[in-house]
Amino acid sequence: MKKESKGRVTRDGIRIHEPAEFAGMRKAGELAARILDDIIPHVRPGQTTGEIDRIITDMVEAAGAKSATIGYKGYRHASCISVNHVVCHGIPGDKKLKDGDILNIDVTVIVDGWFGDSSRMYVAGRLSRKAERLIQVTHDALFRGIEMVRPGNTFGDIGHAIQSYVEAHRMSVVRDFCGHGLGRVFHAPPNVLHYGRPGTGPRLEEGMFFTIEPMVNLGRPETKVLADDWTAVTRDKSLSAQFEHSIGVTADGFEIFTLSPAGKFHPTWG
Ligand code: MF3
Ligand code: CO
Ligand code: CO
Repeated sequence: MKKESKGRVTRDGIRIHEPAEFAGMRKAGELAARILDDIIPHVRPGQTTGEIDRIITDMVEAAGAKSATIGYKGYRHASCISVNHVVCHGIPGDKKLKDGDILNIDVTVIVDGWFGDSSRMYVAGRLSRKAERLIQVTHDALFRGIEMVRPGNTFGDIGHAIQSYVEAHRMSVVRDFCGHGLGRVFHAPPNVLHYGRPGTGPRLEEGMFFTIEPMVNLGRPETKVLADDWTAVTRDKSLSAQFEHSIGVTADGFEIFTLSPAGKFHPTWG
């Protein structure tokens, strides 16, 4: 007989974790957040994304943890680094960052079997006004979504909060990628959509663990994946931004597992 982990799975296939299991996510989330803090001084014009990824790889190893992305579906790096019009899953490489580039760095680590997944925006050099606006709206949209997390609300409430905020600022929410359940696995049910209608979708219950990770475009929402089979870009080449937290549903709200120990989730400049 297969050994089952304890606990319950809802009829939507969403695992309900026990209060004691929050401790595992706290440790994994904290490491992901600390790496995203510590990488800040390495993001500057002239630096390559490949070098940033190499530093992240070393940080994961120095912490005695494992990268969740190295070896995942053939992916070979400890981070995804998505520059300017790259929406997500940018592959680190030898292209140098230029003054004014904006980038998302996404790191997922495994600590004691638990997955911590988070991403933030960074800027190389000087930030343009329009990029600053995009980044601010994306960050605030994530938090509009997080504020909907409590038992009894639905995943549609989260998506609606994000979409309505973004569209009120005349920007668009990417539909082609979503957040996901996680815990002792990287990607589990449900798909966490960043758009939707209030009251729709599965109901939130205490003990659910998932990410919220909205991608927001200055132009149209459509994306395409490049020939490398990973890099997703905006079809209209408009700038794109993303922030991601790993979250648990508590008895009366939420816990963010990937909060920045240094209070640097945003902004990462100034
Ligand atoms: N960390 C990403 C997420 O938020 C997944 C990256 S998978 C990779 O779900 F293989 F591209 F690294
Ligand atoms: Co994720
Ligand atoms: Co991620």
